Amino acid sequence: MSVIAQLSSLRAIGLSASPGGASSRSHQLLAAALARLGELGFAGAIVDLAAFPADALLGRARDRALDRAIADLAAAQVVVVATPVYRASYSGLLKVFLDQLDEDALAGKVAVPIASGGGPAHLLAIDHGLRPLLTSLGATVVAAGVYATPAGFTDGVPGGALLDRLDRALTEAVTLATAAITRRDFAPAAAHRHAPLALER
Ligand SMILES: Cc1cc2nc3c(=O)[nH]c(=O)nc-3n(C[C@H](O)[C@H](O)[C@H](O)COP(=O)(O)O)c2cc1C
Repeated sequence: MSVIAQLSSLRAIGLSASPGGASSRSHQLLAAALARLGELGFAGAIVDLAAFPADALLGRARDRALDRAIADLAAAQVVVVATPVYRASYSGLLKVFLDQLDEDALAGKVAVPIASGGGPAHLLAIDHGLRPLLTSLGATVVAAGVYATPAGFTDGVPGGALLDRLDRALTEAVTLATAAITRRDFAPAAAHRHAPLALER
């Protein structure tokens, strides 16, 4: 597929990992992220992980909807992952879903981590929890994720400061995802790329 065709068929997926579903704060931020990515030309949708049967999430049964979500994830260039902070880390719901994936399932994808905590104390859940989790699956994670507390919302709607942080993270994700496509297509032949460096003695 040509670079132009690839750039015009970019896809994003949002993983919503709060048992609270659509009314949760992390889901609200995820919805804002997918809407912004839509404006930037990405097709995509949110997957509500809480909607899958527990047996399928634990790998004890197959579920068509879960299989479809994994296929949609495979087709996306940008993955936005939104989780509540539970016990200073990501939700168990996110972990059991990601445990169903192959170990390099996020290779070549750009991930944007979003976490919603009850207060500021567990801000590092992004860098100590989510970042290594996503990296272990091969994702390139944007430099700055988005950490939210209830103070950042008014009547359940994310405020301007949160949306600004989200925008910065998404801008980086889009830059990385589109650069990966152009780099792949315009890169020199593999033989040149892997030629050993001539070191001076
Ligand atoms: C089981 C459980 C554990 C929690 N642990 C933490 C925690 O360690 N640190 C924190 O800041 N908030 C903690 N919280 C609060 C949630 O992170 C907070 O309510 C968050 O906004 C929920 O996000 P959501 O609305 O996207 O589900 C916990 C909540 C629950 C239910």
